[in-house]
Amino acid sequence: MHQNPFQVLHPSEETSGGCSSTGTLPLPSRTLSAAQEGLKKYFIQTYGCQMNLYDSELVGSILMQSGYAPTNSVHDADLVLINTCAVRENAEQRVYGRIGELKSLKTENPDKVMGVLGCMAQRIGDDILDRAAHVDLVAGPDSYRRLPEMLARIESGEGQQYAMTLDNVESYSEVAETRSPGGLKAWLAVQRGCNYACTYCIVPYVRGRERYRPIPEVVKEVERLVATGTKEITLLGQTINAYRDGEQRFDALLRACNEVDGLERIRYTTSHPLKMRTGMFEAMADCEHVCEFLHLPFQSGSNRILMHMRRGYSYEEYIIKIAEARSIVPGLAVATDVIVGYPTETEEDFQRTLDLIEEVDFDMVYNFMFSVRPGTPAEEFEDDVPIEVKKERLQRVISLSKTLAQKKNNGYIGTTQEVMVDGIAEKKWDRRLIGRTRTNKPVHFDGDESLLEEIVHVRVTEAGPHSLLGDLV
Ligand code: SAM
Ligand code: SF4
Ligand code: F3S
Repeated sequence: MHQNPFQVLHPSEETSGGCSSTGTLPLPSRTLSAAQEGLKKYFIQTYGCQMNLYDSELVGSILMQSGYAPTNSVHDADLVLINTCAVRENAEQRVYGRIGELKSLKTENPDKVMGVLGCMAQRIGDDILDRAAHVDLVAGPDSYRRLPEMLARIESGEGQQYAMTLDNVESYSEVAETRSPGGLKAWLAVQRGCNYACTYCIVPYVRGRERYRPIPEVVKEVERLVATGTKEITLLGQTINAYRDGEQRFDALLRACNEVDGLERIRYTTSHPLKMRTGMFEAMADCEHVCEFLHLPFQSGSNRILMHMRRGYSYEEYIIKIAEARSIVPGLAVATDVIVGYPTETEEDFQRTLDLIEEVDFDMVYNFMFSVRPGTPAEEFEDDVPIEVKKERLQRVISLSKTLAQKKNNGYIGTTQEVMVDGIAEKKWDRRLIGRTRTNKPVHFDGDESLLEEIVHVRVTEAGPHSLLGDLV
């Protein structure tokens, strides 16, 4: 019986992609062994970014260590957990909706334990416990080690439990060592937290200060993942290029991972423009397994808005960074994040955002409407761009980025691409297999299922804005 305890919801409501999302989500499937039959079962539903997906895997490891087994059925589960996101208001509203839906499960079976984890738990855990009596526990991102103890307290009748202390050193190192995502692709968080203070952003408040896992420890984990069949890893961090291990920087980490035997592809996300160093681009160019893909959010093209947001760079400096990256890493694909409708954004400011998108000629633009986050500095400013204007600007970003992506993808026609085969296409596609290029473009092509998880070469024959079609070479 194959079990999949992880259900994934994409965080992005305005775009077709996920927030900083790369690749197909590696959903671990586990077989319940005879020894696990009869154990208590847990189910986790994950909202938000890749960091939350990774954290759900850590939580799975913690629970399995304390005698739980995974299930993919919310009805069968003795423990139902929702791992939440707080980045925009509608992300939180959806979680509240889901928490409400779970009430009936508790009515059916009062012994079922319900928990809310993650960034929203960290932000408003007390409120969740007050508003939803059927929720037994809330735990923020740095409190997952406490879950077994909290569950024991609930079992012994001590009532609702919460743990919301941020911890500047927690990096779940030993927990990560027991994680077994067991897939072709795996996430690997090398940095937790964020030391920036972008005025609109809740992340530093719910994830705390930056901390990093040392290079030897990361390499050991990569080796372990590769030994279980993983061929691609995505290194995760909110500002991953701020990574440090003593005097060593992110380029040293890339170089060390590149040396792991059997690892085919290395990706990483997300970078901050202020920490883009030449050494990092050189490492990308030198390391054959590091893919030619960079996710570098710019947020706004207006220097006035960028300053207001406290991003620390200008339109012109961003352009220079991209030009340097492209000159050092041939064939580099670039994705970005943009916010429209930030307080006081005028049509002129927004035009600069469109100018920047056009000038950089991105492969992919993840676009978001500004959403006020309580407690952030931007809350002090009036959210004065009307919703209709935000929606209209969003549509203009989507339309421009689609045109640019189509043009970019047309450039792939006639080329032969290295593709890692990671799935069977949905029925609507007349070609059976799907994979990704090194530049993270989905490619559909015909081939035998025995090619799954292999690296093949595909000659591109057609292109759309979001994917490519081709023939196996
Ligand atoms: N650390 C990354 C960075 O600095 O670029 C991104 C982190 S955040 C989880 C992902 C994206 O959500 C951001 O790049 C930004 O575009 C968007 N975002 C964050 N706060 C937002 C807000 N209050 N309203 C709308 N979008 C927001
Ligand atoms: Fe948020 Fe800015 Fe940190 Fe990114 S760098 S997580 S946008 S505060
Ligand atoms: Fe990620 Fe959402 Fe938290 S984007 S870090 S899950 S606020």
